[in-house]
Amino acid sequence: MQWAGFFESLANQEPDDEFVTGRPGGLSPELAGRIANDIAAKMDLRASDTLLDYGSGTGAITRALAPRVAETTAVDRTASVIERGMAGGGDITWVGPGVGGSPPTLSHGAFTKILSYYNAQTFSTHSELREHIETLRQAVARAGTVMFGDVPDLERSGQWKSGERGREENRTTWMGRLQKRDIDLERDERNLAAFSDRLKGLGIEPPSEFGKPHPGFDRDIVTRMFREIGGEVTIVAQPIEFPNAHTSVDYVVQFSE
Ligand SMILES: C[S@@+](CC[C@H](N)C(=O)[O-])C[C@H]1O[C@@H](n2cnc3c(N)ncnc32)[C@H](O)[C@@H]1O
Repeated sequence: MQWAGFFESLANQEPDDEFVTGRPGGLSPELAGRIANDIAAKMDLRASDTLLDYGSGTGAITRALAPRVAETTAVDRTASVIERGMAGGGDITWVGPGVGGSPPTLSHGAFTKILSYYNAQTFSTHSELREHIETLRQAVARAGTVMFGDVPDLERSGQWKSGERGREENRTTWMGRLQKRDIDLERDERNLAAFSDRLKGLGIEPPSEFGKPHPGFDRDIVTRMFREIGGEVTIVAQPIEFPNAHTSVDYVVQFSE
């Protein structure tokens, strides 16, 4: 809920879509295209596929994937993010949160390929992750594929270089952009509580984990969760260069008939 409020306030304040969903450095069309190529290859995306992008944000990657498949649906639980995604065009069906912010409703077994990319950092525990995995399982068709991608990884979490980490990245991020509004990274990265308060002063509600690297999820536990619901898991360390790639992995999960 904290993260949902955060994305909501960011979407209401920040004019540039590239920064709204919070990828360090923003998500330029060029980077979205490179990520989409990588995803299409890993998921073996085909022209006959019905694709679901779950937690799509404003849809930069979704838009780059849509021309490659038969039908594309984008789902996000943040209402303002969905509104901006719809305004951004593309041959995409958008699904937002239910009444009172309840989870989006999806048809069971309707999608041959499901992508859930760069949203696992909003889950703190493995049980929250399991609930998410169950949701994806319900939506995937028989013999379908789920890619749970850009997931913070426990084994790689030591690769964060605290202090160095983020300095260059953050300068160019949406956090850097917020600097224009009296956020001073040199000062604020040393005192996250004060930083958090200043963001609140701007009307942006940061989650309590904000600013810290995610500790990461255990590969064995995540793999077991997918296996228990009938998936065969391949874990891929991300080969393309982008800001999170050094601490995250992709799970590509194949379900049987
Ligand atoms: C960091 S953005 C990533 C967007 C996009 N997938 C990308 O890679 O750029 C995370 C998005 O996931 C959404 N999100 C997080 N948890 C979700 C959940 N449980 N259900 C639906 N959307 C979720 C947030 O609203 C936010 O727009």
